[in-house]
Amino acid sequence: MRTSLDELEVGGRRVLLRADLNVPMHGGQVSDATRIERLLPTVKHLTERGAHVVVTSHFGRPKGQVVPGMSLAAVVPALSSALGQPVAFAEDCVGEAAAAVVGGLADGQVALLENLRFHAGEEQNDPEFAARLAELGDCYVNDAFSCAHRAHASTEALARLLPAAVGLGMAAELRALGGALDTPERPLAAVIGGAKVSTKLEVLNNLVARVDVLIIGGGMANTFLYARGVDVGRSLCEHELAETARDVETRAAAAGCTIVLPDDVVVAAELAAGVAHQTVSTAEVPADAMILDIGPASARDLAARLSACRTLVWNGPLGAFETPPFDAGTNAVARAAAKLTAAGRLSSVAGGGDTLAALAQAGAAGDFSYLSTAGGAFLDWLAGKTLPGVAVLERQ
Ligand code: 3PG
Ligand code: MG
Repeated sequence: MRTSLDELEVGGRRVLLRADLNVPMHGGQVSDATRIERLLPTVKHLTERGAHVVVTSHFGRPKGQVVPGMSLAAVVPALSSALGQPVAFAEDCVGEAAAAVVGGLADGQVALLENLRFHAGEEQNDPEFAARLAELGDCYVNDAFSCAHRAHASTEALARLLPAAVGLGMAAELRALGGALDTPERPLAAVIGGAKVSTKLEVLNNLVARVDVLIIGGGMANTFLYARGVDVGRSLCEHELAETARDVETRAAAAGCTIVLPDDVVVAAELAAGVAHQTVSTAEVPADAMILDIGPASARDLAARLSACRTLVWNGPLGAFETPPFDAGTNAVARAAAKLTAAGRLSSVAGGGDTLAALAQAGAAGDFSYLSTAGGAFLDWLAGKTLPGVAVLERQ
């Protein structure tokens, strides 16, 4: 059991809210405000009840040093305009500077504290640093699912020091993700793409035991094809992981999970926009060519398989989607999943920065049931790991 936001008495109290304001920036401006928008329901819940809202976050990886280019001051304008109210900024997240700003808040006002990672104690999950943060609040709310794979002072130790509740965004995310993997309507499919098997091995091993159909795409598929004896030419391939890939196939077979690899692929001499390319069967990849996407027959086959499923989890593109025309396979399958979802036939959850970019590029993002902005936390969840920032919120 976790304490919900409704159960927390917040009126007139200082609420330390752990957010994930680690947002993408371009030219000094927030270039994708999704994480800010996801935070709004929780902040509004708090301000409407007269809380003194103290928002905390990390921003980039300054590694315990003050790095001016990683100041959260840059995010204040976007946060304040999204909220429609001013946001005070404290130039440190602990100590006198923070205490002065927090002490100046009236009921319903909001402050943002400077980057937590300017202090080494944050990433060390240092209890003394957590105690300094705790001095600034009467209670604690975590609305940063995308940071929950980190056992850091603001996501772990701090939750032990104050009455703690889960934010509305994080609660929705846990519901969506739990519904997809823990209590799914079956058949359940997973699409796992991306460059390397090595970065997603734990994910693959967890998924083969849980899903009915595991669709593997991207560079990862080359390693699996190679392990099945296919000549993948000059494709990205982790040859040394062939045995590991065979091991995943064995586990899948034992668990009754069907692993689906492409039958046809799009190949070219190099990865470049508009380069000469051809579609070939996986049995006929030229020795000097690289596989850069799944082929149209594979895309149609995947769409047909998804139409027989009720639930889908997706992480990673099926091809080199940033470089047209090698986005075609990802686009086609993403659109098929979006269409099935819009028709009420599929419940679809996707996560990860690259994945969300690929779905957006395909024009498919809007129809997915749930999109997680979490990268590392989404992968750890797919791998079946305990997320420290979630576990600590369980009531003892
Ligand atoms: C993210 O963007 O994935 C989260 O904010 C976590 O950031 P981190 O990988 O630097 O811990
Ligand atoms: Mg990350």
